[in-house]
Amino acid sequence: MSEEHLTITDDRTGKSYKLPIEEGTVRAMDLRQIKTNEHDFGLMTYDPALMNTASTKSAITFIDGDKGILEYRGFPVEQLAERSNFLEVAYLILFGEMPNEEQSTAWTYDITHHTFVHENIKTLMQAFRYDAHPMGMFISTVAALSTFYPEAKQVSDADNRLAQIKRLIAKVPTIAAYTFRHNRGLRYVYPDNDLSYTGNFLNMMFKMTETKYKPNPALEHALDVLFILHADHEQNCSTNAMRAIGSSCADPYSAMAGAAAALYGPLHGGANEEVLKMLSRIDDKRNIPEFIQRVKNGEGKLMGFGHRVYKNYDPRARIIKRVADEVFEMTGRNRLLDIALELERIALEDEYFISRKLYPNVDFYSGIIYQAMGLPVTMFPVMFAIPRTVGWLAQWQEMITDPEQKITRPRQIFVGQPRRELPKKKD
Ligand code: CMC
Repeated sequence: MSEEHLTITDDRTGKSYKLPIEEGTVRAMDLRQIKTNEHDFGLMTYDPALMNTASTKSAITFIDGDKGILEYRGFPVEQLAERSNFLEVAYLILFGEMPNEEQSTAWTYDITHHTFVHENIKTLMQAFRYDAHPMGMFISTVAALSTFYPEAKQVSDADNRLAQIKRLIAKVPTIAAYTFRHNRGLRYVYPDNDLSYTGNFLNMMFKMTETKYKPNPALEHALDVLFILHADHEQNCSTNAMRAIGSSCADPYSAMAGAAAALYGPLHGGANEEVLKMLSRIDDKRNIPEFIQRVKNGEGKLMGFGHRVYKNYDPRARIIKRVADEVFEMTGRNRLLDIALELERIALEDEYFISRKLYPNVDFYSGIIYQAMGLPVTMFPVMFAIPRTVGWLAQWQEMITDPEQKITRPRQIFVGQPRRELPKKKD
């Protein structure tokens, strides 16, 4: 029994209710007992955009938005980015602990040996128009995978779940690379199992006539860090979609296609694409003050700034800024970076952004790095979806095994027409 309580007095009836407080929350269902009479449905909460509603208990990712802290399973993301690789972090996020050497080897082997997709997936992807948006292709192809693995519907079977988890993590880079090659009119490149997760991804993206592709170690490492930073972010829009769709016991491919669709939006994973467009429109550092003024006048947003949870510098943005330096040493400096740095400097000194606690988020610099790597802006949300696959699947698995979770089904406040009669048709 909880030690802490909230006492509510209903002024409509004069009755008082004592609700338990657990971990800083009251249960919305406890409010249902608050009624004006026995026919009353009971009190509900109204929370558009779920601004103040915890929809789950989760042990995966911790964020302190005010302090700018991000931890996966208790480990600070800064340490993970520095001392581990993406597949180890994927293992940690999914299973709760860092893998030992033996586990790491087995896990890497399993993922590496599921990277191929059925040839019909290739054919399916070839049916898209030459200029199809890569994210549209990605979403559709992930959904199509469910028809190749009908056994994935057995979501309550733990072994079965694990098999689909491995398949999805292994195959998303292949699908992502095929969307890119398709846009370029290049033949699709098969995975190379001798390479690392990110090394193989670069191989499938950029291999041309060479018999064996050798990924650039600096780019391979930069990509690995970017993937670590994007692996999970607790109950964001797309993860919420994954959980909501998964709560109906849909297979993980279908649920993940929905999650990826949520990621596609410009306020979520589509933001880095918007950042690049914004920087290109600004075009010159001299145009920044005028641009900032337009934002302050409400004529648009400073894309890559602001976050629902972080009211401080997004810790991922800080690490990404360092990665940008490493990449630019390799590829040569991108002039958009100078515009971005100046834009950040000016915004962080401006009362509008200070008072609203608007800081750069993960998307502010990631797009500039991807562009330097030779990726078109349309690939940016796909680059976000590859690592986030891990987070989506870990959260999905946590939801499936949580005895408190049921099918997600919010309530509404009906504000439409009261019941009325449709006039009878004349004979
Ligand atoms: N530029 C200018 N003003 C902003 C911005 C921005 N980027 N973000 C928020 N504001 C203002 C907003 O107009 C509001 O002002 P006022 O109080 O005068 O009405 C105030 O700040 C609070 O903003 P909000 O819209 O209530 O904040 P939110 O928590 O609903 O939105 C957000 C969060 C990320 C959608 C929003 O900050 C935004 O649209 N940012 C730009 C898009 C972006 O960079 N998205 C990537 C997010 S991080 C990666 C991811 O989640 O995928």
